[in-house]
Amino acid sequence: MYQRAKGVSDKKPFGTELNVYAEGYTWLTHSMAPRPVAEHPVETFRISVGGAACRKPYSASIYNISAMSFGSLSASAIRALNKGAKQGDFAHNTGEGGVSRYHQEFGGDLIWQIGTGYFGCRTGDGDFDADRFAAQASLEQIRLIEIKISQGAKPGHGGILPAAKITPEIAEARGVPRGADCVSPAYHRAFGTPIELLEFTARLRELSGGKPVGFKLCVGRPDEFFAVCKAMVDTGLAPDFITVDGAEGGTGAAPIEFSDHIGLPAREGILFVHNALVGVNVRESIRIIAAGKLISGFDIAVALALGADLCNTARGFMFALGCIQAQTCHTNQCPVGVATQRRSLQRALVVSDKAQRVRNFHRKTVAALAEVVAAAGLDDPGRLEASHIFQRTSPAEIKSFDQLYTFYEPGQLLDGRAGDRLQRFWDIADASRFGPK
Ligand SMILES: Cc1cc2nc3c(=O)[nH]c(=O)nc-3n(C[C@H](O)[C@H](O)[C@H](O)COP(=O)(O)O)c2cc1C
Repeated sequence: MYQRAKGVSDKKPFGTELNVYAEGYTWLTHSMAPRPVAEHPVETFRISVGGAACRKPYSASIYNISAMSFGSLSASAIRALNKGAKQGDFAHNTGEGGVSRYHQEFGGDLIWQIGTGYFGCRTGDGDFDADRFAAQASLEQIRLIEIKISQGAKPGHGGILPAAKITPEIAEARGVPRGADCVSPAYHRAFGTPIELLEFTARLRELSGGKPVGFKLCVGRPDEFFAVCKAMVDTGLAPDFITVDGAEGGTGAAPIEFSDHIGLPAREGILFVHNALVGVNVRESIRIIAAGKLISGFDIAVALALGADLCNTARGFMFALGCIQAQTCHTNQCPVGVATQRRSLQRALVVSDKAQRVRNFHRKTVAALAEVVAAAGLDDPGRLEASHIFQRTSPAEIKSFDQLYTFYEPGQLLDGRAGDRLQRFWDIADASRFGPK
């Protein structure tokens, strides 16, 4: 990642250092007839996001910057990310901390994330404010709107930005007063059931003038996601995209129990969401965006083979910004100026240099994906399938992903066939509530 970001050679001599006989070793099956490598993959590997209800679909890059707020990241980091996104023509997710002045300086495409704190669109007491939302969403630079339900590193957990860390700029971006802790509850107040989530999605789309609206989650209880699918069938409402974060995802700060032991990992999460949407016949109009340690062309290929349409990375772009994994994001002491609000430390991050690295990392990783796709004998990454990826399951056994994992037939859930392991979750799923009866 560093080499790609710096634009120096990313080639490796001598051969793999991985143990190809270890359980879990994963590889792609290449073709005896590889295709020419796509010449301009940044321009051509693009996916339109926005279903029929959407008046402003967005042509997204296959690889984008995952949600990281101004607050967890420094102003310099946000500026460098957005400048890189502008130069490289890809999208920059604001994270739940709102759209700051630093997001707007260079005009890179934004995905505005709305978390439980409704930062940038909240009333004085922390509820959703439709007028403020409409005013902010009209910003041309905002291309997509993402409702954050959960993230993989701490699903089901809220957050607090302590009063001491709330600078005037953070207060401005979030629309919160200084001098008091800024709380993001674990739950949303704007909706409380699967049907209400879809109604809220539709409302945001209307209020934004028809921009694509989706939601982000790390998959938890299968019956709850199935309940959202049942709600789609019952109401005819649907999000334009669903972002699936894996349990292996990153964060600025989380309890170790949550990072280590809560949430479905990315591969299973992507597959589950893909299957559920196929199973209720809504897959065609909803894009799946995947995240969770997807930092190489191969990682992206695996996610696409499991059902993702696009991929994001947060920490990949942090490395491009110069993150050295000091793991002090939560202390305000980041020594390289990426995850701190201290001005003296932020001076370590030179925006023009790091914007170039952000752009390079994106371009080189997408180019690496293009090489992987061509080796598989394909022209289009969207044609990667589960049969292209193999995994070692024991010393003497290997399986392709289509043998290892179950893929649903279209409409399978509507016929009431969720399969042995998931049937009871499908049966109890209820569009009018999250959680058990
Ligand atoms: C510093 C930091 C801040 C983050 N802030 C948010 C956030 O505001 N909202 C969110 O949905 N996810 C947030 N995430 C999670 C990422 O968006 C992403 O889903 C996750 O890190 C997986 O991608 P990665 O493995 O490529 O980092 C954050 C991650 C990091 C590292």
